[in-house]
Amino acid sequence: MLALLSVLPLAALAYANSYHGPPNAHCVQATYNIALPTYPTIPFNSSLAPDLDPSQAALTELIAQSVTSPGNFSEMYMSGTNSSTGAAYNIFGVLCVPKDGDKHNGTVQLLVHGLGYDSGYWDFGFQPENYSYVMRAAAEGHTTFRYDRLGTGKSDHPFDGYHEVQSLTDLEIIISIITLLHQGGVGGKAYTSVIGVGHSYGSIQLTAASAFVPNLLSALVLTGFSANASSTGQFATSNAFSRADLTQPDRFTGLPGSYVISGLPQAAQINFFYFPFYDPDVATFSYATIEPITQGVLFTLSALTSGQSNFTGPVHLVTGDRDWIFCGAQCGVKPDGNHTILELTKIVFPMTSNFSVYSPANTGHGINLHFSAPATYTNIFNWLGGFIA
Ligand SMILES: *[C@@H]1O[C@H](CO)[C@@H](O)[C@H](O)[C@H]1NC(C)=O
Ligand SMILES: *[C@@H]1O[C@H](CO)[C@@H](O)[C@H](O)[C@H]1NC(C)=O
Ligand SMILES: *[C@@H]1O[C@H](CO)[C@@H](O)[C@H](O)[C@H]1NC(C)=O
Ligand SMILES: *[C@@H]1O[C@H](CO)[C@@H](O)[C@H](O)[C@H]1NC(C)=O
Ligand SMILES: *[C@@H]1O[C@H](CO)[C@@H](O)[C@H](O)[C@H]1NC(C)=O
Ligand SMILES: *[C@@H]1O[C@H](CO)[C@@H](O)[C@H](O)[C@H]1NC(C)=O
Ligand SMILES: *[C@@H]1O[C@H](CO)[C@@H](O)[C@H](O)[C@H]1NC(C)=O
Ligand SMILES: *[C@@H]1O[C@H](CO)[C@@H](O)[C@H](O)[C@H]1NC(C)=O
Ligand SMILES: *[C@@H]1O[C@H](CO)[C@@H](O)[C@H](O)[C@H]1NC(C)=O
Repeated sequence: MLALLSVLPLAALAYANSYHGPPNAHCVQATYNIALPTYPTIPFNSSLAPDLDPSQAALTELIAQSVTSPGNFSEMYMSGTNSSTGAAYNIFGVLCVPKDGDKHNGTVQLLVHGLGYDSGYWDFGFQPENYSYVMRAAAEGHTTFRYDRLGTGKSDHPFDGYHEVQSLTDLEIIISIITLLHQGGVGGKAYTSVIGVGHSYGSIQLTAASAFVPNLLSALVLTGFSANASSTGQFATSNAFSRADLTQPDRFTGLPGSYVISGLPQAAQINFFYFPFYDPDVATFSYATIEPITQGVLFTLSALTSGQSNFTGPVHLVTGDRDWIFCGAQCGVKPDGNHTILELTKIVFPMTSNFSVYSPANTGHGINLHFSAPATYTNIFNWLGGFIA
């Protein structure tokens, strides 16, 4: 039994390593050195992160405190402001152009992954015909660009997982990348239209970016998202966050204790999957390729979720009916008696030209990982078809 347990993830990893991108697209992998302007960051009191490399027990206690009393936690440990100057990071990204020709010349979809993954979430290596959004996009004639968030995949992993790898840094990076796409800095072609497609924390970053650079985005597809953050505590505790280096030493030895992953496959299951509406091999593959989250990002998430966006373009929200993180697994609940949690998310976008909701049935937070994924992609591309040339 033990042998079986350790062999399964390895088999899944071997499968992952044998996948080199969708056969229907020309994909170019590159590393972009992103130099950030001076930007505000959230400080961390030195009594919270004395050595930037907390033990498992210490980081668990921090999670417990942050969930028990979020207000007190930020007041005690994260008061005031700090700023970062001169930061520059290597960010890995993949541009995929359809082999049969780009039917939307001048438009690129920017794919922004969420917590627990790198950008491989968008080009899933297991049965990509079913689960790879990038492959489907190429089949529909769309160019896509995906990138690994700081601290994941092939992007830089700064040692300081509090002051550096935090939500305000992620926001600066996404704004820089949107700008780069317009300026011709990705693949040598200046895109006139950038469509933001996010999942979870990727949707959170796109929403925040759309408030800062509303004119640089032409449409938003926000998956695994809602304006109802009431389940954040569930997310923080139910993942049983564990030091990445101790949990998957083959992949993460060398990372400090601030980098954490779901401690067990079943912890990832409750957050991302709705049983039994997914292929168990997908869940195995997903856990075997899981990517770390820093405590700095976890503790600063609310800096990106508290505001509205004056984005005027169309917004399409795509969240599974059983999303645990953004709906407490009940997206059909109507908090005001008239509108579902998903419909109420329109309040984040008071100026949007068109707000719509699609909620695939029998689907948890990991939108791309359920049996419903192909039908969900059909919905997204039909929606996009109404807005882009
Ligand atoms: C301010 O940020 C710098 C680096 O970004 C960090 O070294 C320093 O500890 C931070 N100070 C506080 C109080 O968070
Ligand atoms: C905040 O938490 C600290 C440590 O647990 C405690 O001593 C303090 O009384 C709390 N403050 C408030 C306002 O709850
Ligand atoms: C950090 O928090 C502790 C406990 O609230 C406080 O005593 C200390 O003054 C704070 N340190 C800084 C540098 O703000
Ligand atoms: C795409 O648009 C650019 C600029 O408008 C043009 O130069 C180029 O020929 C177009 N490419 C295709 C394949 O239509
Ligand atoms: C796609 O998923 C279905 C349902 O699990 C499965 O029957 C089919 O073989 C999969 N297709 C490919 C190409 O793997
Ligand atoms: C959105 O527009 C309103 C009205 O013009 C303005 O008061 C508000 O500050 C704007 N919000 C943002 C985030 O720019
Ligand atoms: C969030 O959802 C919960 C039910 O899951 C509901 O009680 C609460 O009122 C909702 N809040 C908002 C702002 O939608
Ligand atoms: C809900 O709908 C009813 C009937 O249209 C209306 O009277 C009521 O004001 C609505 N409540 C809210 C909170 O929108
Ligand atoms: C939003 O766009 C869809 C087409 O994609 C259209 O059917 C719907 O009427 C539009 N809604 C509004 C409020 O403009």
